[in-house]
Amino acid sequence: MWTTVALLVFVAVSGVTAATTGVTFTNNAYLDEAMNVFLQWRRDETTVTMQLEVQTRGMVAIGFSPNGNMPGSDIFAGYVGDDGQPYFHDFYAEAQEHPVYDGDSNQNYYDVLATENDTHTIVCFTRRIVLCDSNDKTVNNGTNRVIWAWHADDPTDERSLLYHGATNRGSRSLQILYPRTEQALPDDVQTLELLNVNYSVPGNRHTTYLCRGIKIPDLGGKKHLIRWEPVIQPGNEGAVHHFVLYTCGQEPADLDAHDGQEGICYSNMPDEWYHCTITLLAWAIGGTGFNLPQNAGISIGDTNDPKFLMLETHYDNPDMRDDIVDSSGLRLYLTSTLRTNEVGVLQVAVEVRQSQKIPPGSASHTTVAHCYSECLQQGMEDVSASALNVFAAFPHAHLAGRTVNIRHVRGANELQEIFKDEFYDFNYQETVPLEETRQVLPGDSILMECTYDTTDRSDVTYGGLATANEMCIAWLLYYPKMALTRCESWPMSDWYLTSLSATSTEYSADKQDFIATAPANLVNLTADEILSSGVTWTDELRAAFQRGETQAARFELCADNSNNIVHGDGTRPAPPVIEFPWVSADECSGSDAAAANIAANLLMLVMAYIIMKVM
Ligand SMILES: *[C@@H]1O[C@H](CO)[C@@H](O)[C@H](O)[C@H]1NC(C)=O
Ligand SMILES: *[C@@H]1O[C@H](CO)[C@@H](O)[C@H](O)[C@H]1NC(C)=O
Ligand SMILES: *[C@@H]1O[C@H](CO)[C@@H](O)[C@H](O)[C@H]1NC(C)=O
Ligand SMILES: *[C@@H]1O[C@H](CO)[C@@H](O)[C@H](O)[C@H]1NC(C)=O
Repeated sequence: MWTTVALLVFVAVSGVTAATTGVTFTNNAYLDEAMNVFLQWRRDETTVTMQLEVQTRGMVAIGFSPNGNMPGSDIFAGYVGDDGQPYFHDFYAEAQEHPVYDGDSNQNYYDVLATENDTHTIVCFTRRIVLCDSNDKTVNNGTNRVIWAWHADDPTDERSLLYHGATNRGSRSLQILYPRTEQALPDDVQTLELLNVNYSVPGNRHTTYLCRGIKIPDLGGKKHLIRWEPVIQPGNEGAVHHFVLYTCGQEPADLDAHDGQEGICYSNMPDEWYHCTITLLAWAIGGTGFNLPQNAGISIGDTNDPKFLMLETHYDNPDMRDDIVDSSGLRLYLTSTLRTNEVGVLQVAVEVRQSQKIPPGSASHTTVAHCYSECLQQGMEDVSASALNVFAAFPHAHLAGRTVNIRHVRGANELQEIFKDEFYDFNYQETVPLEETRQVLPGDSILMECTYDTTDRSDVTYGGLATANEMCIAWLLYYPKMALTRCESWPMSDWYLTSLSATSTEYSADKQDFIATAPANLVNLTADEILSSGVTWTDELRAAFQRGETQAARFELCADNSNNIVHGDGTRPAPPVIEFPWVSADECSGSDAAAANIAANLLMLVMAYIIMKVM
């Protein structure tokens, strides 16, 4: 862009540290497991400032990638030369090959500072969050795939780089635009660790969901939970995939007997735990600790608060190792200095069952969980809340999930999404604080949409617990707390039966699903039975399944903490059509961006003219 035509290069006399740059970084992460590549950053209104520290005296590079691979990436790379001068430039990669210098008029990294000592190269730069040039990447609100590379040597030419080889490179998903500033904890803070105990992760399956019963110890009265963080047993970082901490609609009678018991979730766990379905909080791999807003806390230890929790730990063991023994878990921070507001968790989802059906061979199929306005409104009325203040969201899908979007509708108008991640990564999920607290008013509805890519699959992907199955769940943290916890709905399966050529259907209490009653060859079959007998997937059939997400009548679960129905009879007509969908402003289509492009083009013309004159 015009404002960054010149690459400003400052030579740092001593090492570049936060002290010499004057920058206070708010976030940091190692980008590699060997801990050779360390990134610190801070986000300001329109810019991001990053400091990269790599254990090499050669070339270093960091890039913003669409998917973790090189093609399509925006790369900042360079080295500190033997002359002590830094040589850093903006490149882009069109393919898995040497990146291309992005042109003199297109250098988008500025305020570059760089230095090296005997072992490390440190580089610090600032860039705009939004860049309006096809060779440059905008830093996303959701997940960003950051790529990195380094080489032991300096290149001989500042615009050509050295091949990093197979090992000195990698990619890491990062949440960049949400600085998690540490919060001063009150003096009376106490911690409660909820840990597994030497659990031997099964070596005969890829995915294990371990459920552990935890009796909450006597906390000496009501407390507010104000922060949580993971406690991962060193060495098991790759296997411990997520934790979900559930409360139970109905708690086991003998808490002591259930304390410390464990079992495979929804398989050989105690029957009483099937009542433990309300997510209190969740952490997943890649996430860090979470601080609640200063004016809100999650009540714990009070008379009516949960006495029992179920900790679900998802272990991912693709290599089927049989030597993983784990004692990881969660650490909760509690305070007696109660905050003004009680926090609730609202689950907007489709049922985690076969009712969720994603066609195979689809580049983009969107599951829609519609939280109806009538359900939300009843929930608010029941506690006389005039609005819900949503401050964090935890979207959850599995491996086929590509984008997640929590939409917010008011009457005929859709408002800006509550949270959207266009680069969803199953391996990087966490409860994300929203940029601004969002108010949900009576009459509003919320949609959780998950878009999946199943081009590499030949069978239907069903909703389910295994990572090969799918989920579409948004947990919203908000205040003031309602009794309502589950605002869920999913299409009735007669839609799918009709799509699969049934000409008439009825509900079968026997099969607890719709069955076809005609034509003769489909009689008594459910949609799932027809699907499992093998169908030919056409674009038409996929499109029919997609239409069902918004046009089919629905089953609804609008329920409280004890799974008591808050509103409705469990069925709903198809959700209302959103008359005026939200259209996000394109920050690059404005006159400024156009002017910048014209300016850049003009500059190139002028330069071409000068070059021609010189020649
Ligand atoms: C070189 O820089 C790295 C990274 O800042 C630092 O950890 C290391 O101590 C430095 N080495 C010397 C000899 O100063
Ligand atoms: C991030 O989200 C905020 C508010 O939700 C929005 O204003 C902003 O434009 C988004 N930024 C990007 C880079 O998408
Ligand atoms: C877990 O195993 C380790 C190593 O065998 C042992 O030292 C520790 O006491 C065990 N912890 C518990 C709580 O049993
Ligand atoms: C369908 O099921 C009903 C009730 O179980 C049974 O009476 C009927 O014979 C079945 N029809 C066919 C064609 O299988």
